[in-house]
Amino acid sequence: MSPDKCLNVYERFVFPVLSHVDAEVCHRVTLRLLMLAEATPVRGFVDSAFMVNDRRLRVTIGGVEFSNPVMLAPGFDKNGVAVRPLERLGFGGVEIGSATEKSRKGYPGKRIWRMVEERGLANYMQLPNVGITGVVENAKKNAPRRAKLGISVSPIIENGMTMDDVVSQVGRMVIAASCAADYISLNIVCPNVEHGIDTKKPDILYKILWNVNRQLNYVERESGVRPALFFRIAGGVEGTMLDETAKALINTRVNAASGFNTFSDWPDRIRERYFDARGGLSGRPIKKRTIELLAQLHQITGDRIDLIGSGGVENTEDGLEMMRAGAKGVQIYTGMVYRGPSVVREINRGLIAAMERMGAGSVGRLRKLIMNQPVKLDLGRLSVLESSSYVD
Ligand SMILES: Cc1cc2nc3c(=O)[nH]c(=O)nc-3n(C[C@H](O)[C@H](O)[C@H](O)COP(=O)(O)O)c2cc1C
Repeated sequence: MSPDKCLNVYERFVFPVLSHVDAEVCHRVTLRLLMLAEATPVRGFVDSAFMVNDRRLRVTIGGVEFSNPVMLAPGFDKNGVAVRPLERLGFGGVEIGSATEKSRKGYPGKRIWRMVEERGLANYMQLPNVGITGVVENAKKNAPRRAKLGISVSPIIENGMTMDDVVSQVGRMVIAASCAADYISLNIVCPNVEHGIDTKKPDILYKILWNVNRQLNYVERESGVRPALFFRIAGGVEGTMLDETAKALINTRVNAASGFNTFSDWPDRIRERYFDARGGLSGRPIKKRTIELLAQLHQITGDRIDLIGSGGVENTEDGLEMMRAGAKGVQIYTGMVYRGPSVVREINRGLIAAMERMGAGSVGRLRKLIMNQPVKLDLGRLSVLESSSYVD
């Protein structure tokens, strides 16, 4: 079966069945199936069916060369157990984690809710993971062959900790992740974990980032290798806070920023309808806001720091919208849940079609061309670019 048919089958037949099963159970089974497929000859089929190998898709983000601009967002493979099979789905980058210093079980009750009609998810997971040492061990065992590997790290702030404790905790995790990661992604404001210390505040942010730079200098001196430093911006960081965050990232020479993590501020209609759900909102309901904030962020940063768009991407048009707002690449989580594994291939093929249509020789050139478009792109008859699910 061709991947395009597979996408159709997933959306028409597989997802409607899965949507009756608890979201976290589905997720665990999916990871297991991916790992199982990796241990059988099926992996060869997956490889040839989903990968899109085209030089024009190559892109450098934060100094890291990705084979294409579509990446897996953190949170999907928290422990780094399925990096190889996820890579086979065609991602240019796979970001695992978020890892914390010690292992965590996370919130004990129900913690993922689907919003099928709105194509969103809410999660209140509270960072369950096996801890940075286990995540790094898994990452080494499963190191990807073509995709770049990102390790996302998150501090946990316990009662009685000082700001300096938090700064050194992040530093230790960065050192631990350095031996396996192409890039380390700092997720220092998880919406579902009470921090006690507001890590969004610029003075704390600066302290953490300067110390991380010191640790990376040390790693570079000792090993000759320096993973790139990426930063995840919390959903809903806007106005002065966005401005200050952007300036801190530029001043401390962070290589790339990914906007955004899930939003704790929900639209009223969603809050009213899903009153029993809680946590961070993702998927289609945050897409419009993500694009607006990304465009604001890009206005502040220009191209002084590379941006990655994350929030509601589920087709090529969404990817192009993110690029038009300033992103060089995109990360996906919720879109995979609703559209299935072929979505990466669909987006990459759509980007190639858009490049051909606009006479762009690379995805970077395509981004430049569409950023200068004064009106909404007319994507014409390109079937891969037509999407009935484009609603915002
Ligand atoms: C169930 C779930 C768990 C997540 N866990 C993490 C995480 O551990 N670390 C992190 O930085 N982001 C995490 N995220 C946020 C995603 O990486 C992404 O930024 C967000 O969901 C928006 O993208 P999307 O709309 O494509 O899902 C999680 C998202 C979901 C839905």
